[in-house]
Amino acid sequence: MTKIAVVEGDGIGREVVPIARAVIEAVRPDLEFFEVEAGYGLWKRTGNACGEETMADLRSADAVLFGAVTTPPDPGYRSVLLQIRRELDLYANVRPIRGEGVDIVIVRENTEGLYSGIEWMESDRACTVRVVSRRGSERIARYACALAKSRRHLTVGNKANVLKSDCLFVEVCTAEAARAGVPCRTCYIDALALDLLMHPDRYDVVVTTNIFGDILSDAAAYLVGGLGMLPSANIGERHALFEPVHGSAPDIAGRNIANPVAAIRSGAMLLSHLGDAAAAAAVEEAVRRVLGAGIQTRDLGGVAGTREFGAAVLREVGRGK
Ligand code: NAI
Ligand code: MG
Repeated sequence: MTKIAVVEGDGIGREVVPIARAVIEAVRPDLEFFEVEAGYGLWKRTGNACGEETMADLRSADAVLFGAVTTPPDPGYRSVLLQIRRELDLYANVRPIRGEGVDIVIVRENTEGLYSGIEWMESDRACTVRVVSRRGSERIARYACALAKSRRHLTVGNKANVLKSDCLFVEVCTAEAARAGVPCRTCYIDALALDLLMHPDRYDVVVTTNIFGDILSDAAAYLVGGLGMLPSANIGERHALFEPVHGSAPDIAGRNIANPVAAIRSGAMLLSHLGDAAAAAAVEEAVRRVLGAGIQTRDLGGVAGTREFGAAVLREVGRGK
């Protein structure tokens, strides 16, 4: 039986994940779900945000549905999500941005770059090492090129004019694109950030390093209604984790106003990863119809609550059967 680990995490993760799970269950009642605890809330109760037991549970799953976790800006606290991405070796962070006139996929290297976790404090300075390896670049370049091959073209977002580490990244990505026969151009990340918002039609697959992809994807949410809309997949050779791009949003948590679309769409990506394109399409279609019928949460200008939106998607999914 296919096993799905469910991590609600903190904040609005606890509100949007149960909805995403219910929607997945509605289209695939044969899947087995099990809950796994991780995050800041768990840390406050037990002193451990993501222990060995949690990691073993996640490793045992065929896929993980993840909400969001709070990371306090405390140098002593390790980010749970970075730990999971690294330990499960989820090297490709895939972030589709789809909406009217917009169809872009940001492919973010997910295990190294500025988020390698190699950091230290000195008396008057703090250092973070930016690691870009040939192997790490090759595998993300291969992933992005395979995706671009089935679509249109590739843009390599970088800052090679300043960072030596990005010279390697660009060299590897352009070589892989040439090998794969994928039309490819390179673009400095700062200029790209503006151009992507002004001319989204110029972009198809964008591959970039860890922190640039993190920032670029939040900014790109502007094109399609904000952070509540964007799903993501974290893919490795052996494991896969699906989560909304947004965080735990403590400013709106517990008020039934979070937009669950990002989480539900992450569920659709999970279904498609399991090879069930029809179920994924059914979920996407249900979300489209509900939004199209004017049922929308507050961030989109509507009045529907998180749960009411979820119920509407569930009704729509049921109708599609
Ligand atoms: P955030 O993504 O949680 O929120 C940014 C803004 O977008 C907030 O105003 C929030 O209300 C709004 N927003 C986010 N998701 C929304 C939704 N589904 N519906 C409606 N509005 C939504 O980012 P922020 O505020 O920078 O971080 C909050 C916490 O989340 C921090 O502790 C941070 O470390 C953590 N975080 C966790 C992530 C993860 O687990 N994947 C990713 C990003 C941040
Ligand atoms: Mg982010």
